[in-house]
Amino acid sequence: METVDILVKNANELITLKGPNKPRIKNEINNLSIVKNGSIAIKNEKILDIGKNLKYTAKKTIDASGKTVMPGFVDPHTHLVFAGSREFELDWKLKGLSYMDILKKGGGIVYTVNETRKAKDADLLSQARSRLDNMLRLGTTTCEAKSGYGLDTKTELRILKITKKLDDIHPIDIVGTFLGAHAIPKDKKTNEYVDIVINEMMPNAKGLAKFCDVFCEKGVFTPAQSKRILETGKKYGLIPKIHADEIVDTGGAALAAEIGAISADHLLMSNIDGLKQMAKKGVIGVMLPGTPFSLMMKDYADARKMINFGIPLALATDLNPNCWIENMQFIIQLACVNMKMTPAEAICAATFNAACSVGLNNNIGSLEKGKQADIIILDIPNHKFLPYHYGINLVETVIKKGVII
Ligand code: NIG
Ligand code: FE
Repeated sequence: METVDILVKNANELITLKGPNKPRIKNEINNLSIVKNGSIAIKNEKILDIGKNLKYTAKKTIDASGKTVMPGFVDPHTHLVFAGSREFELDWKLKGLSYMDILKKGGGIVYTVNETRKAKDADLLSQARSRLDNMLRLGTTTCEAKSGYGLDTKTELRILKITKKLDDIHPIDIVGTFLGAHAIPKDKKTNEYVDIVINEMMPNAKGLAKFCDVFCEKGVFTPAQSKRILETGKKYGLIPKIHADEIVDTGGAALAAEIGAISADHLLMSNIDGLKQMAKKGVIGVMLPGTPFSLMMKDYADARKMINFGIPLALATDLNPNCWIENMQFIIQLACVNMKMTPAEAICAATFNAACSVGLNNNIGSLEKGKQADIIILDIPNHKFLPYHYGINLVETVIKKGVII
């Protein structure tokens, strides 16, 4: 009998998400490919076998009876590296101030940029590392991380380098995104800053990041400026992503389709035509329900409409100083309760579709033979408990690359 490193045995529900290796839409997304009383054998960082009654001897056996086993969460949209905090904005939000009001009052992104520029590399690294520790405990095994709190060439590149270092030293796999176009620094005109992003930052971001992102929003970057930035990014091998239609509909969804972005994120205000174009092009919609929650907004992105149009949806935390959350479990809970996604839709969005939205679905996002062994064991009898029992960490064990954390 073959000996494996770890055998996880007899899970009440083993959620494999086995299926076509492309972003899942509509009914497909509801098919979690659950194995009842399932087991999973892990060897050399990978999944060797999956099924019922597996016959292996194991160096370590975990009895998962009564529990749910699934792929580790993939968090495909975070602003991981930043300094300082903005809890003082809470009183402003309670008084009804909007995201843009807060920015004008000296809060928002520009406040965090000042804090980040002042911070030492070692402090940025250790603060981000403790966020990653929280994420891992809560079941996230891979995340994306954007720059964007530097807004000058030196600090943007520092952030990208720190992100790479974190990927080296932390068990969580981290994919870097260059978001130099996150806001306009106080001392620059927009077009002048766009030139700096394109001519100074981007040539150096190449190699440090996989994606290029832009905050395409009224009062920030116009669709024309966003297009110029993302098209130039492509020339440097950076795959486009976009913060689209978060506060105002500026046609961000249509732009995402036009330039062939891998994902368009937020989409709270997107128009129907733009969403239909996204569906046609297969652009993944990344839903960030933590953002309207922390901004105390009444309306969330219309996930039901997007699913009906045939847009594959992913879920992410948007971890940032406005929306400080490391917890994908809570994001799934918000997606179900406030966006009316089914538990199965939300779970697929937080794992397989999330992996697609960062281009990693060949290796992670589902539990299939040969894939990386990124697995979580939850102390719940079935997947419907995940959006049902909230307020505690349901993840009991995290296995990252075949190692129990
Ligand atoms: O995705 N909208 C732009 N960026 C972040 C917020 C960043 C911040 O407020 O510091 C977001 O919501
Ligand atoms: Fe964001």
